[in-house]
Amino acid sequence: MLFEPAPAKVNLALHLRCRRPDGYHDLETVFAFTAFGDTLHAEADDELSLAIAGDWAVAAGEGSDNLVLRAAVALRQASGHRGGARLHLDKRIPVAAGLGGGSADAAAALRLLNRLWGLGWEMPRLVALAAGLGADVPACVESRACFGSGRGDALAPWPAELAGTPVLLVNPRVPMPTSAVFAGWDGTDRGGIAPGAALADLRNDMTDAAVAIAAPIAAVLARLRSLAGTTLVRMSGSGATCLALFQTADARDQGAAMLGDTSWWMAPTSLL
Ligand code: C5P
Repeated sequence: MLFEPAPAKVNLALHLRCRRPDGYHDLETVFAFTAFGDTLHAEADDELSLAIAGDWAVAAGEGSDNLVLRAAVALRQASGHRGGARLHLDKRIPVAAGLGGGSADAAAALRLLNRLWGLGWEMPRLVALAAGLGADVPACVESRACFGSGRGDALAPWPAELAGTPVLLVNPRVPMPTSAVFAGWDGTDRGGIAPGAALADLRNDMTDAAVAIAAPIAAVLARLRSLAGTTLVRMSGSGATCLALFQTADARDQGAAMLGDTSWWMAPTSLL
């Protein structure tokens, strides 16, 4: 039995640039990943199968449209491997939450099956295959802070050291339809992300469209901004999860305690 973590993805900034003829958007984003995430296990088998457990298992769905199985099929086809795998996913990342849960799971499946099947593919080859599975999947294969442009799948290093930064993730338990949030963007290009720009000077250009769909996001952002010791408060992806970066792990834990007894989903963690 082999094991692979599927770290949650956060967007520390997300600037929308233009709508594309293919229905996607050109954007610039700072991706980061957290110690918190899903976990995937696999053992060799003749067929491909997937079982899901965990808090968000039902919302994720075990059907053949699950991105884990689509990733496994894509890797098997591209590599010509004949066997299968029995995959077990522990689903802890909220679904439709701006945390790239499905993309993280697909990326973990590529890394895990590359090992299980002894394919020996190097990272760039896995990243290239990942682009066919979704715009965020290449970044999730790397699972390291990086800069993304194009659909989010053209990757470059991000110069600032972020590893170890304490972060609190908060979601008001409203599932967000990603394409509807993109469609709600007003189409104004407010400028790109200069390499190495200070994160505090950057934005998430989907925030207004997301708040228009799910008003509780504004309350989450306001509560996070009221906490002591934060260095950044921002919505991730198309929402509804928001994040706060903190100066210290103590400040993060005190912040989580201050939010206290809400119905909101929360995860105190740190950036990878
Ligand atoms: O690539 P993925 O399947 O994760 O994207 C989900 C949806 O998000 C797309 O169908 C599209 O509506 C939207 N999207 C976009 N521009 C991007 C990435 C995603 O419009 N760069």
